[in-house]
Amino acid sequence: MCGIVGYVGSKQALPILIEGLKRLEYRGYDSAGIVLYEKLGLTAQKSAGKINRLEEILRGQHFDSSQGIAHTRWATHGEPTDVNAHPHFDCKNEIALVHNGIIENYRSLKALLEKQGHRIRTQTDTEILVHLIEEYYEGDLTEAVRAALSQVEGTYGIAVLAAGEPRKIVAARKGSPLVIGHGDCENFIASDVSAILAHTKRAVYLSEGEIATVTADNYEITTIDKLRRNPHIEEISWSLDQIEKSGYDHFMLKEIHEQPMTLRNAIRGRLNFDEGIPRLNGLNLQYEQLRNVERIIFAACGTSWHAALIGEYMIEEFARIPVEVEYASEFRYRSPILKEGTILFVISQSGETADTLAALREAKKKGLMVLGICNVVGSSIARETDGGVYIHAGPEIGVASTKAFTSQIMVLGLITVLLGRMRHLSVQQGMDLMGALERIPEQVEHILKNVEPQVKKIATLYDKTNNFLYLGRGINFPVALEGALKLKEVSYIHAEGYPAAEMKHGPIALIDEKMPVVVIALKDAVYDKVLSNIAEVKARNGQVIAIASEGDTEIADKVDHVIYIPHTSRIFSPLLAIIPLQLLAYHMAVMRGCHVDQPRNLAKSVTVE
Ligand code: G6P
Repeated sequence: MCGIVGYVGSKQALPILIEGLKRLEYRGYDSAGIVLYEKLGLTAQKSAGKINRLEEILRGQHFDSSQGIAHTRWATHGEPTDVNAHPHFDCKNEIALVHNGIIENYRSLKALLEKQGHRIRTQTDTEILVHLIEEYYEGDLTEAVRAALSQVEGTYGIAVLAAGEPRKIVAARKGSPLVIGHGDCENFIASDVSAILAHTKRAVYLSEGEIATVTADNYEITTIDKLRRNPHIEEISWSLDQIEKSGYDHFMLKEIHEQPMTLRNAIRGRLNFDEGIPRLNGLNLQYEQLRNVERIIFAACGTSWHAALIGEYMIEEFARIPVEVEYASEFRYRSPILKEGTILFVISQSGETADTLAALREAKKKGLMVLGICNVVGSSIARETDGGVYIHAGPEIGVASTKAFTSQIMVLGLITVLLGRMRHLSVQQGMDLMGALERIPEQVEHILKNVEPQVKKIATLYDKTNNFLYLGRGINFPVALEGALKLKEVSYIHAEGYPAAEMKHGPIALIDEKMPVVVIALKDAVYDKVLSNIAEVKARNGQVIAIASEGDTEIADKVDHVIYIPHTSRIFSPLLAIIPLQLLAYHMAVMRGCHVDQPRNLAKSVTVE
């Protein structure tokens, strides 16, 4: 959702900024721009389209600059045109600004600024902010930014340059992430660490309401109210090869194939077989507190919301604690009944999703304990929760989430066993469940090795289809939702997920010989019921692709295609059932010529509400 990168040092800034933008492209890719501080002042170039387009325009031009800021955009206000691309400038073209977030009161500010004679040239909310800074500018950029931000409602991560103040970048954040990369006689600014990882592994995460004045050999952090803050330098644990494609055609495919490893990382050091209890110290809860949990609410968005639904099935069945799953965006605007004994769990890969963050803050305001299940260490959600569990999936760059989803479920499995053991599960039951979780990475490896050629073949048969239906029952109903979401996101095929039995109440009207239906039909308590649902589809000439349990020969002649997965404990079966569905979405998208890692209109980290 817009990516920002900035550099001040002694090297040529352009290649550093372009490379940084490419690393951030998953955050938005409808236009991009750059501004460099050169001897004669600020030089800018911006363009609609992806970073490659900007790069082409810049090729052959000569720049000599060791300071600049750059931006890749996901449009909110104003179409993705050259003009609306960032950076934006004040009237005199002497102050340049890039922004991630939304200035909510931009209309009233615009009216005011126009009255004062400012010429507003774009349709964006962002441009208003740079004119506001101009209004306050008297030779001290930091103070002008501070004064302007005190007038602003909304969210921002910004980086600003002023022609009158060489060797300085001013950055600030509220609601949108920003990190300073600490280098040797050079410093960086970025929306996230992937943009700076090639240059430094030392990072300072800006907190809400902080302003940083960054030069090549220093950075000073203050709050909007002018309080001085001591920067806390953190070591980034991600490595550069984790953010490369490493020979895969797309990040999505790489991340699907990384799952055996990422799932191992999610459980590493956390399985205490002696006591049959997972170790999740990050929750910061004593056993007694865990025993006293009376109700759990999950709040999340997108794929993380689907993981939460799976968590609901797991926890209610094995820990016997009532669970509700809320869209984070809805939770905030309802008046949920939040009694003592209730815990809110927020689930987020990025840890920056604006709606999830807002739900977290709302619950904290109401006195609730809020825990997180997050991937990105140091993210806003990770920092603002009272405790939580990292999923340790490593950087996820493909916009469609895959490995984070399975790692979230893995962690939810651990939480389930922990809560269950605090109640009625025996040591042996705890050990058995953890044993099942421990076998999952190997089983995922087995699926990846065996089913991909078959899935690819199936994809060739259906890549011209316009609609897909996904059906599952019980704990595999959320898997049907997630399978459908993956297909929609990357291949632009309309797909819906339904509880298999609900098909009779509407979607069945859509079924004809052109409608492929993916059915998760594992050998469990609802197997026979699912076979009946399959029969209903076949009776109407629908095409059925079944995800079935290895050894199930009965299903083969009832459906058009069967993809087999190994057997595991029923509650952990989503971890296996989703793998062929991720592969199907990926291969369908590739065959349709879609841009898999950057699907149209989507962004990986949605930092606006
Ligand atoms: C966006 C992404 C999805 C993701 C959702 C929630 O919509 O495209 O892949 O599931 O945000 O993101 P989070 O980082 O909070 O899990």
